[in-house]
Amino acid sequence: MDKHHVEVMIDEQTVDKRIAEIGAKISEDYKGKNVHMICVLKGGVFFMCELAKRVSVPVSMDFMSVSSYGSGTKSSGVVKIVKDLDEPLAGKDVLVVEDIIDSGRTLSYLLKNLQSRKPASLKLCTLLDKPERRVVDDVRVDYTGFEVPDVFVVGYGLDYDQNYRNLPYIGAVKFDE
Ligand code: IMP
Ligand code: MG
Repeated sequence: MDKHHVEVMIDEQTVDKRIAEIGAKISEDYKGKNVHMICVLKGGVFFMCELAKRVSVPVSMDFMSVSSYGSGTKSSGVVKIVKDLDEPLAGKDVLVVEDIIDSGRTLSYLLKNLQSRKPASLKLCTLLDKPERRVVDDVRVDYTGFEVPDVFVVGYGLDYDQNYRNLPYIGAVKFDE
């Protein structure tokens, strides 16, 4: 890691309040249904747990882990499923819960893959969105916590070389001269 420090970008109270708002909206939208939340490991874990606690309709959860083929900046958009879901999606109201959408390549691939499993519905919820960075046009976000500028963020599940996932706020990484 280059020499850096982390500054608070969105404080804990603001994040918690926003998650409660999204939870209330989801509870309303899924009234009379069960919501099957899918967490994309590892970044989505903190957000999904906090969100699930704020949802009043029945919730079930499953987890998957993916890695991008072709490391570095040139990702092909093809992702490898490292850990697949435990349960089938057929007939379920599925909500993918993500930490952040950047280029959108990962989600573009993942949503097509999940759609092919015939869920009753498929929606996407992300804590953070960096719309300026998007390179795909087929990722529709249904619930967004916060739009953030093109800076590297950590905390609430997001990491910098596996560090800072446990910060209870969203921090911006500042690289020192
Ligand atoms: P993309 O949308 O396919 O480009 O990839 C999104 C993934 O890149 C996220 O799930 C994160 O794991 C990672 N990522 C993108 N931007 C950031 C950031 O600012 N901080 C930490 N991880 C990030
Ligand atoms: Mg992620």
